[in-house]
Amino acid sequence: MINRYQELIEQTFYFPQEGFEVDGGYLSFNKIPIKELIDIYGTPFKLTYLPKITHQIQKARHLFKQAMQKVNYTGNYHYCYCTKSNHFKHILNEVLRNNVHIETSSSFDIDLIYKLYNNGKVKKNTLIVNNGYKPEHYIKKIAQLVHDGFYNVIPVCDNKQEIELFDKNFNTSKVSIGLRVATEEEPNFEFYTSRLGIRHQEVISFYEESIKTNPKFQLKLLHFFIDTGIKDTIYYWSEFKKIIKLYCDLRKRCHTLKAINIGGGLPIKNSLGFEYNYEYMINEIVNQIKEACEKEGIPHPDIFTEFGKYTIGESGAVIFSVLGQKQQNDAELWYMIDNSLMNTLPDSWGIYERFVLLPINHWNKEYQRINIGGLSCDNSDYYNSETHLNQIYLPKFDSEKEEPLYLGFFHTGAYQDALSGYGGIKHCLIPSPKHIVINKDENGKFHHELVFKEQTAEEMLNILGY
Ligand SMILES: Cc1ncc(COP(=O)(O)O)c(C=O)c1O
Repeated sequence: MINRYQELIEQTFYFPQEGFEVDGGYLSFNKIPIKELIDIYGTPFKLTYLPKITHQIQKARHLFKQAMQKVNYTGNYHYCYCTKSNHFKHILNEVLRNNVHIETSSSFDIDLIYKLYNNGKVKKNTLIVNNGYKPEHYIKKIAQLVHDGFYNVIPVCDNKQEIELFDKNFNTSKVSIGLRVATEEEPNFEFYTSRLGIRHQEVISFYEESIKTNPKFQLKLLHFFIDTGIKDTIYYWSEFKKIIKLYCDLRKRCHTLKAINIGGGLPIKNSLGFEYNYEYMINEIVNQIKEACEKEGIPHPDIFTEFGKYTIGESGAVIFSVLGQKQQNDAELWYMIDNSLMNTLPDSWGIYERFVLLPINHWNKEYQRINIGGLSCDNSDYYNSETHLNQIYLPKFDSEKEEPLYLGFFHTGAYQDALSGYGGIKHCLIPSPKHIVINKDENGKFHHELVFKEQTAEEMLNILGY
């Protein structure tokens, strides 16, 4: 009996499922026929499917709206896009079509805002939340935005010294600001408290001593971010409740405080077995804020989110070919791919992030356990486990006689380009792959465009000074 790859997947997961189907022996992603793109462009390539971004934004907005209506919540919901998850122009254009707000993380982000403004994508009324630990040059640019008439800018104080730099650089009064409160880390992490934000027990005294007394500023928003993500765990809810309580205590002292910003961390599908009840989690968030505020007799705050990975992750994929197979001992077989994993998916190497990994073809072949090897000569350039199991199974195929095996890593749209420095100097000088952007028109027809060609030797050597 042959154990076919497709049967393995169908027996292990609910398959086909949203976004992934096999049609005529080939995998499609959001109905995009990947094999057609391979035939046109050749591997390796990155792809971005723009409609998924809008879908994600609308889904979160709908769930927050529904959760708020259910409990007669009187505050509003604000969707901010955190630019650091993906800064590309085609991404920002799609994100901003949905009238979202923006969250920035560094000085260059403000230059990005001006570019978007000059292109008509951002308006003077766009709400811009400024996060991060801020060197003075970042603060100067934020102040410039305010002085130029962007009237919904909310710099978030990450530490007590920043308020002095705000004071020095802003020349207007009643600038809306936020405060970030440092969360306690998960018990198994290396540190107890996040290095980002102001210590929980110092927030109220800091407000009383440094903000309340300064007519230039009014505190508008309290921000926190639980780095491990929005999860239905005791740790998440206990941190969450502590900060909502702090919000209530602060609100009683500060009538300008109107909003709570719960940061990012909404997860995405990183395996076909991923299960997450978005509706339940969002209902819980809204309900817990409402109940805590009512108990303390304060108005329901506006709720801000800054979802990065959630907005953009599921729109991206990277497609490789298996160039050859290497049997290095009786148990270890390698599929060698046509680019480096470290260079293209640095999170898979740096923080052992897993992505949805599926072959594009050979679904009716027998499967076998393999390791995936990247092209660089670094021994850590590999991928050999999935979220649901500590191994990888992929179809067997004959590299000499058959169509090459094509592999897709899916839901790779967030952070990988910035962390790998797309188009920059690459490990072992292996070039950044080409990048294809895909859109769908109102008749359901796909349109694809090559937005970046594969990096050339000339381009890389140029950066290196040759
Ligand atoms: C302040 C802040 N907001 C939002 C995010 C986005 O997080 P995610 O991509 O998990 O949604 C981050 C990520 O580092 C962050 O530091």
